[in-house]
Order: sequence, then C-alpha cells, then structure tokens
Amino acid sequence: MQKDSTALVTGGGRGIGQAICVELARRGADIVVADLDPDEMQETVELVDAENQRACAIETDVTDLESVESTVDTALEEFGSVEYLVNNAGIAGPTAPCESIDSEEWDDTLDVNLRGVFYTCRTLLPSMKAQSYGRIVNIASVTGKRPLTQRTPYAASKMGLIGFTRTLAAEVGDHDINVNAICPGSVDGPRIQRVFEEKAQAAGRSYEAVRSDAESQSPRNELVDREDVANTVAFLCSPDADRMTGQDLNVSAGKVMY
Ligand SMILES: NC(=O)c1ccc[n+]([C@@H]2O[C@H](COP(=O)([O-])OP(=O)(O)OC[C@H]3O[C@@H](n4cnc5c(N)ncnc54)[C@H](O)[C@@H]3O)[C@@H](O)[C@H]2O)c1
Repeated sequence: MQKDSTALVTGGGRGIGQAICVELARRGADIVVADLDPDEMQETVELVDAENQRACAIETDVTDLESVESTVDTALEEFGSVEYLVNNAGIAGPTAPCESIDSEEWDDTLDVNLRGVFYTCRTLLPSMKAQSYGRIVNIASVTGKRPLTQRTPYAASKMGLIGFTRTLAAEVGDHDINVNAICPGSVDGPRIQRVFEEKAQAAGRSYEAVRSDAESQSPRNELVDREDVANTVAFLCSPDADRMTGQDLNVSAGKVMY
C-alpha cells in the first residue's frame, strides 16, 4: 500500500467487507468504513484499531447520492485523500423465477449492486484524478460470468458490474487509476451456511449433503474464505498489480475458470 494511504470500503461492517478492511489495515492503510448499519461498523473499527491504523465509520447508503457525497466529503476532510475504493456493498436480491420478481425487488438489487458503485466512483473520481492515482476494486461474483437460476436481478447486476469495470478502466487509465473486479465463488460463513440449511430443509436433504454438492463444484472440493477475497483486494491495491486494470479475477477455488 502507499504510505499514509486511505481506503474507503463500502459494506465494510461485516462479512467480506470487514475482512477487506482488516487486511488493508494490516498492510498499512487507514480505513473509512461506509455501511448502512452503524452498530456493525463498530466491530470493524475495533479490528482496524487493533492493526494500529485509523478507522472512521460513516453511516452510508450507497443507493443515495447525497449520502455518498457526504461520506466522501467527510473521508477527504478526515484523511486528506482516498487512494483505494472498494465497492463491496451488495445484496443477494430475490430467489425466484423471473416472472415472479416484482419491479421493486429488481430495482432494489440493481440499486445497491450497480447504481451504488456508479455513485461512489462518480463522487471519488475527481479527487483521484486530481492526485493522479487511484485503485478501484469492485466485488462482483462468479454470477457475473455464468448463470445462476432464479437470481436474474443479481446476475444482471454482477454482469453489469463487470461491464462497468472494463469501461471505467478504459476511461481513467491515463490518470494512473486502475479499476478491477473480483468474482468470488461461494464464501464460507454464516450467510452461506444459512442458505445451505434452507436448501436442505426445502429439499428434505441433510445440511452436509447440500454443502458437499456446493463444494464439489470446485476442483479443490472447497468453498472460499472471506480472507481469500480480502487478500486479492490487497494485491490489486499493491504495486505488484500496477499493470493490471479492467480485469475480473475469479476467487472461486476453481469453480469458474474464465
Ligand atoms: N458471500 C458470498 O458467497 C459472495 C459470493 C460472491 C460475491 N459476493 C459479493 O460480496 C459482497 C459482500 O458480500 P457478503 O457476503 O459479505 O454480504 P453481507 O450481507 O454479509 O454484507 C454486506 C454488507 O453491505 C452492507 N450494505 C447493504 N446494502 C447497503 C447499502 N445500500 N449501502 C451501504 N451498505 C450496504 C450491509 O449492511 C453489510 O454490512 C457483495 O457484493 C456480494 O454480492 C458474496
């Protein structure tokens, strides 16, 4: 990481976003945690403190342009500059056949997963251009590359995010701003465990059988840890990745290979 640098991580209050905050702090960045949930952000702030980096939690709704603008203003006032933007906030959206999904569910999913990324990039790019440096990492999904039935809004948002990533990378490269996406496979943790439990119950199968099915989609027979995603974000923010932009990197234990 650059010396005295700052990373703004959306959805950093829990899950993958929290692991990203901790890893970037471990590598020397101060952290702006931008999340809807003030209580959850407190834990992330304490974890960043434990890495001896400064952390600032700002209640933010990425779907609201005014909220994003206010967060970016505060971040720039507090830290002077933001070098790294990690667009991690995302929601799963509905699980249903396309014809059963209503407009509100569609809009909610696209609003968080795609419009939110547009808003943070739009708001931070002027300062990144002024400092002639920036690293933007968008957390997409392997569902940005291959279908996931009953999840049309989520797939459309993540496929859209890859298109957004490539196009923005082409626009801002000559300002030394790199824009990349990471495509995680199923990440182990409470959220996926709940999904497996629900699937098992619905199908009259055991939790272990449903989990084993998911693991067997990987040639390594395993899921991904949130730290795997966090390490890849840190790599993309490091000088080792200076010549990488417009890419979509799978962190899926080999579940998707393209
Ligand atoms: N967990 C997985 O298996 C998996 C796999 C592939 C991709 N992803 C992607 O990784 C990202 C993080 O996923 P996760 O599993 O850690 O999710 P999570 O639900 O545990 O955490 C998401 C965070 O985003 C925040 N958030 C939601 N809406 C927001 C908004 N409007 N404004 C600001 N913050 C908001 C939530 O408060 C929460 O802290 C998402 O973009 C998700 O699509 C997850």
